Amino acid sequence: MSRDVLEALNRRLEANRRGGGQARIEKQHQQGKLTGRERVEFFLDEGSFEETDALVEHGCTDFGMADNKISGDGVITGHGRVDGRPVFVFAQDFTVFGGSLSEANAAKICKIMDLALKVGAPVIGLNDSGGARIQEGVASLAGYADIFLRNTISSGVVPQISAVMGPCAGGAVYSPAITDFVFMVEETSYMFVTGPDVIKTVTHEEVTKEELGGAMTHNGVSGVAHFAAQNDTDCLAQIRKLLSFLPANNAEAPPVVPTDDAPDREIPELDDFIPADANKPYDIKKLIRWTADDGDFFEVHEHFAKNIVVGFIRIGGRTVGVIANQPAHLAGTLDIDSSVKGARFVRFCDAFNIPLWIVEDVPGFLPGTAQEWGGIIMNGAKLLFARAEATVPKVTVITRKAYGGAYCVMGSKHIRTDVNLAFPTAEIAVMGPQGAVNILYKNEIAAADDKEAARENKVAEYQDRFANPFVAAEKGYLDEVIVPRTLRRKLAASFSLLASKRDWMPAKKHGNIPL
Ligand code: HXC
Repeated sequence: MSRDVLEALNRRLEANRRGGGQARIEKQHQQGKLTGRERVEFFLDEGSFEETDALVEHGCTDFGMADNKISGDGVITGHGRVDGRPVFVFAQDFTVFGGSLSEANAAKICKIMDLALKVGAPVIGLNDSGGARIQEGVASLAGYADIFLRNTISSGVVPQISAVMGPCAGGAVYSPAITDFVFMVEETSYMFVTGPDVIKTVTHEEVTKEELGGAMTHNGVSGVAHFAAQNDTDCLAQIRKLLSFLPANNAEAPPVVPTDDAPDREIPELDDFIPADANKPYDIKKLIRWTADDGDFFEVHEHFAKNIVVGFIRIGGRTVGVIANQPAHLAGTLDIDSSVKGARFVRFCDAFNIPLWIVEDVPGFLPGTAQEWGGIIMNGAKLLFARAEATVPKVTVITRKAYGGAYCVMGSKHIRTDVNLAFPTAEIAVMGPQGAVNILYKNEIAAADDKEAARENKVAEYQDRFANPFVAAEKGYLDEVIVPRTLRRKLAASFSLLASKRDWMPAKKHGNIPL
């Protein structure tokens, strides 16, 4: 091989590594951001990155672009390993044309997405971009659409994870939105379809970029993002942790992580954990952590719809997806946001062979005009649909209230939950005692001399009959009423037994979840 050719290759690769040049790299650092290349290197196992298309250049000739080319064209693509397991990654490089999407760099992204689908490995997109490359016009828009198509085709086949680590505007938000999980970095990232200036012109609203589409806006208000990170390295470390719970594709089981935490470990704290007063809140996350291997709970959507808690744990080394009502927030009622949050999480787990543990303490759907007019019927039905169609192993534990339609939705036996357990403190009824007595004994109470005493008598009678798990247990709707301290042992045994479960839906193109 001639020395000249080698030198030419090195020169080209060196140009690629310089990106948009030192000044732009420094600007990126001053803003508290890493460059695309630094992110990829931090994210992947050391030395594992294999770059593809480092020498790709754009083909645009308009606006003086023919003389303005940088190898790689603003996106770093390739594959590498996370904890030894293969992943594909692309990272937009803001130092090159603001990371904007050109026809050529969209083709680079599509190339790794196509290969990831064939080999069955996750795709992680690190977004930091001014959006469509303005000089390229429709060719850039076509590039976005090519990516959206692949996001959609890959959905449910390989996990797709997006990190928003800078601007993400216009159509650029829709690729992350189709992926399974969206991470955002606090203070340096934002997502919106139209920015503050357009909004001011059209609706006369004044809003900052951060308020409109910053990390906490999308984590806490819109629910578009699932995770907030303090900075780039925190974000990348969190993505690595998320991947540790997930299989590489829909044909595999999640990895098993050995632990010294015995599956039959008792949890004595649980025996007195559920308050005797049914209206007293408690933090369901404590119960989840006590139950998980090594107390490790990786929460998803932590800041959104806090009345339902979702995330990943392991029991006996195996990944379990948890969905739990949170009595410490809105009494654990189901509303529009929590139903959608829960449904989306269930569908992810079901697509990727992750068993589900449902922890139930729910007084019902949240009443009110805002909920009814906002479509709680249709949105609550999403959770019901997702829970019913899921064929992965499902175990429900009722800790306290299981009232009304929420009893059905939260993994009752009737929507083919495999194992249904209850604490002795469980109360399973059509509604709470006060509401029920008001309806059933309205006339009787009105006619009584001492109305308050009559009401209390009826409430006590109702509680005696329904405020316990025994009616459901008598009917076989519960498999077992358990001593709370044995929870982890019971779950470990159930999930171990169910590991070989097979269940299916009839052949169809796809169901019609009430969107
Ligand atoms: C080409 C772009 C660019 C773009 C930024 N740059 N956005 N080049 N196309 N879309 C270039 C800038 O010219 C500049 O080049 C460098 O990137 C850094 O940009 P700055 O503006 O200096 O950086 P900053 O002040 O940090 O502002 C970042 C920004 C801003 C907020 C992202 O650049 C911006 O508003 N860009 C346009 C955003 C936008 O409207 N995009 C189109 C969205 S619509 P130099 O050479 O000076 O370093 C869309 C449609 C997709 O995406 C539809 C798909 C269906």
